[in-house]
Amino acid sequence: MGYREVYEGWKADPEGFWMQQAEAIDWVKPPTKALFAENAPIYEWFADAEVNTCWNAVDRHVEAGNGDRVAIIYDSPITGRQAKITYAELQDRTARLAGALATKGVVKGDRVIIYMPMVPEALVAMLAVTRIGAIHSVVFGGFAANELATRIDDATPKAIIAGSCGIEPGRVVPYKPLLDGAIDLARHKPDFCVIFQRPEAEASLIAGRDFDWNAVQEGVAPAPCVPVKGNDPVYVLYTSGTTGQPKGVVRPTAGHLVALNWTMKNIYNIDAGDVFWAASDVGWVVGHSYICYAPLIAGATTLVFEGKPVGTPDAGTFWRVISEHGVKALFTAPTAFRAIKRVDPKGEFLAKYDLGCMDILFLAGERADPDTIHWAQDMLKKPVIDHWWQTETGWTIAGNPMGIEHLPVKIGSPTVAMPGYDVQILDEAGKPLPAGELGAIAVKLPLPPGTLPTLWNAESRYLKSYLSTFPGYYETGDAGYMDEDGYLYIMARTDDVINVAGHRLSTGGMEEVLAGHPDVAECAVIGVSDPLKGQLPLGLLCLTSGVDRPHDQIVAECVKLVRDKIGPVAAFKLALVVDRLPKTRSGKILRATMVAIADGKPWKMPATIDDPAILDEIAAALKTLGYPA
Ligand code: COA
Ligand code: AMP
Repeated sequence: MGYREVYEGWKADPEGFWMQQAEAIDWVKPPTKALFAENAPIYEWFADAEVNTCWNAVDRHVEAGNGDRVAIIYDSPITGRQAKITYAELQDRTARLAGALATKGVVKGDRVIIYMPMVPEALVAMLAVTRIGAIHSVVFGGFAANELATRIDDATPKAIIAGSCGIEPGRVVPYKPLLDGAIDLARHKPDFCVIFQRPEAEASLIAGRDFDWNAVQEGVAPAPCVPVKGNDPVYVLYTSGTTGQPKGVVRPTAGHLVALNWTMKNIYNIDAGDVFWAASDVGWVVGHSYICYAPLIAGATTLVFEGKPVGTPDAGTFWRVISEHGVKALFTAPTAFRAIKRVDPKGEFLAKYDLGCMDILFLAGERADPDTIHWAQDMLKKPVIDHWWQTETGWTIAGNPMGIEHLPVKIGSPTVAMPGYDVQILDEAGKPLPAGELGAIAVKLPLPPGTLPTLWNAESRYLKSYLSTFPGYYETGDAGYMDEDGYLYIMARTDDVINVAGHRLSTGGMEEVLAGHPDVAECAVIGVSDPLKGQLPLGLLCLTSGVDRPHDQIVAECVKLVRDKIGPVAAFKLALVVDRLPKTRSGKILRATMVAIADGKPWKMPATIDDPAILDEIAAALKTLGYPA
């Protein structure tokens, strides 16, 4: 069967399609039906089933006689360490950590925050939490204490599992002071913390609250897998929205298992025993779905890579890892390839390695620009497959289903809608637009299994953010068009979210931080184009009247403030002081016009502008920073 038949088959009988995929999962109690629409527009999948995620990702492979198969390869060029963990070892490790958590009182439904670098123990922690039916919330290591505190208050975890440090090129990042700071800042306090000590920076533990990862597991009975209901959350993952308050995307257990298992073969063409490498971080959705869960559910080998595409130690690292470990498919963000191309445009490092094991490169997380795709195709001589998805969906909305059929690639398009997604381009009134016309990209409800049914603690925010603009549809927040062949083109976000090096960031969140500087009366943060990271945040600051301190001093303080409050991952390094911000007559800041000016793109004078002269002032100010580049 080709893609068209599979897609039409799903459309003709969505429930039958997903019930068939559900047969690949080990159920404690199988679902009696697929879709539960009683609370529409909040939909649930496989809600009456009972199941455990860790069992499906780990134990069942051991039980099937594959305990000796490698589950996790750890390759850390930044520390020089490597390790291999079999499924049997992974079962033992998760059961012991789960036993320790259970002994300390973590039970089904409790939340556990995980704040860890790219080490196998991060996956062990995620699986151990799901093993006892608790709900994890992984926080990316590049976020500062304040962001961690916000998540602690929202998720109200019983426990936090953290690494003692992360390692970035040229510096060790001690996590423990950030963790302590976050717990101090948060209103909610966890009962206890488990700290995984790394030799690069051992953390001092607070007696009675903090427990060493190894010590806490001593003499503890390994925990069995605890069944949960199909619609119980397996995790909550916070992502950027338009404000500083992140959105807690809820991932229900059963749909997550069924959908991810389907994607591994059908989208990535990965079978049990193959080596799959998602070069991302466990703190992002790509890391949840494709470093941890999907490869393990499918019985494949996943690669945990602690390093960067360049500089650890060189631009050949990716090629070494692929050839050394027999990687069949690599999944990363285009920015990683732009980084490699910048250092090694002719692919001289590539020539040193045999990439015969590798079949496909998958790209996602941000727009894949044609230059990067062409370069990757020329260098690798393999299919380069773009695909489009979001934290909210947890898996591909539009892609090229390589395990079903390799559809012709159209550069600039992540290809076509996957089964489960009825993708439409809508005009402002919610009317479907004809092929080729630009509009808001929406997905007809219900969304498929594995996608978010709601936001943690924030159902009305879920309804307002995603379901209210176009009744009957999920609003993706992306704009684009579809061609005559059903190929999608993702052009821009329709909200204040920007994408920096494949990381999703909120300009609204940065504005909230900048507005907290005592000398800043008003500000705007825009995402300007960057040849390496795709976009970079740039702040425009209006000062409180009477402030006469040097502007470069205030700018430096603002840069530090964002780094301290949001974290280095915000990559906020560009800011300028301006006299006024351009606004509409109703007071809305004209951010999109400023972006066009900074990027040197054509723009029209907005009809509703209050004072057109301000745009000249902004253009002159941006020039001082070298924009347009
Ligand atoms: N812990 C602490 N700090 C972190 C961090 C972590 N886990 N991850 C990133 N940072 C820091 C970086 O060290 C950097 O700090 P600096 O300002 O002192 O240099 C800052 O956050 C910005 O990080 P980033 O935007 O990633 O820039 P970079 O220069 O470190 O690396 C790339 C650029 C392109 C090499 C890197 O972003 C990359 O490999 N991206 C592609 C893969 C990916 O992770 N995609 C995510 C979703 S699929
Ligand atoms: P995240 O939730 O961090 O995965 O970010 C999701 C957003 O990243 C999407 O809404 C898009 O704006 C962007 N994005 C992800 N993948 C792609 C892609 N293949 N092409 C264009 N944009 C993408």
